[in-house]
Amino acid sequence: MFAPHTLKDRVAFITGGAGDIGFDIAQAYGRMGAKVVIASRNEERLKKAEAELQAQGIEATAFVTDVRNFDQVKRSIDDTVAKYGALDILVNNAAGNFHCPTAGLTPNGWKTVIDIDLNGTFYGCLAAYEHLKQSTHGGNIISIITMLGVMGWPGAAHAAAAKAGILSLSRTLAVEWGGDNIRVNTISPGPIGDTEGVKRMYLDTGRGELEQKKTALGRFGAKADIANAAVYLASDLAAYTTGDNLVVDGGRWLKYVAN
Ligand code: HXC
Repeated sequence: MFAPHTLKDRVAFITGGAGDIGFDIAQAYGRMGAKVVIASRNEERLKKAEAELQAQGIEATAFVTDVRNFDQVKRSIDDTVAKYGALDILVNNAAGNFHCPTAGLTPNGWKTVIDIDLNGTFYGCLAAYEHLKQSTHGGNIISIITMLGVMGWPGAAHAAAAKAGILSLSRTLAVEWGGDNIRVNTISPGPIGDTEGVKRMYLDTGRGELEQKKTALGRFGAKADIANAAVYLASDLAAYTTGDNLVVDGGRWLKYVAN
């Protein structure tokens, strides 16, 4: 467990923060003293998440935002700075995905996922840049990807290409923006139980048990595993870490066989 002041006085903006991994990151940041803004499309879900965070004593705000729309992303990030006076941490977590063999994928299906994952991440980085540059703690960008994006991900060519694009973008920004004291890193979760992604890709397709066996640890991870990694990367403990891809996957990408 980190010390409760680990992220004291930081302001974090988390896309897709209303559910799954994004909510757990928001919760962990809040518990470590950060003010958190969660952004996603579904107002009802967002408001419920905001109330849950506030009930825990966390300073939290929700802004309805479709990450596919640059103007909305920029407005929400500017509103965050107007409300809390700064932006220190951007977490690009919002993602869209569905299982579909590539031969059956329509151009719009492809574009939809690229728009949410890759373009949404770029829009967040672009809108946050001037604010992160002014962070007194040093700016921080963390994007959630997956090692499946640099392997081969049957049935998810759209998401794989988007995640690989985010990895590339992050490495370039780490180099371009390092001189502005902005660190840029990615986290690659493995299969995290109790998330929409694992449900869609593995449980709904009848591959739950197989996919657990494909990890070195033989089990799905927990959302808290990713939230802890996100706290570490955002904190001063990772002050010299930039351009990194922190793999938190139970050894999934290293294992060749399911046994
Ligand atoms: C084939 C599909 C499809 C499916 C949608 N499409 N679902 N094609 N199979 N199952 C196609 C549609 O036909 C349409 O193309 C295009 O995609 C856009 O679909 P819409 O429903 O209009 O899009 P929209 O309402 O914007 O919804 C976006 C979405 C949706 C991505 C399609 O699933 C969504 O909102 N998802 C958010 C939640 C989510 O995906 N969570 C998982 C992320 S986790 P046409 O040509 O017909 O117009 C993750 C990590 C996974 O990604 C890690 C696993 C280990």
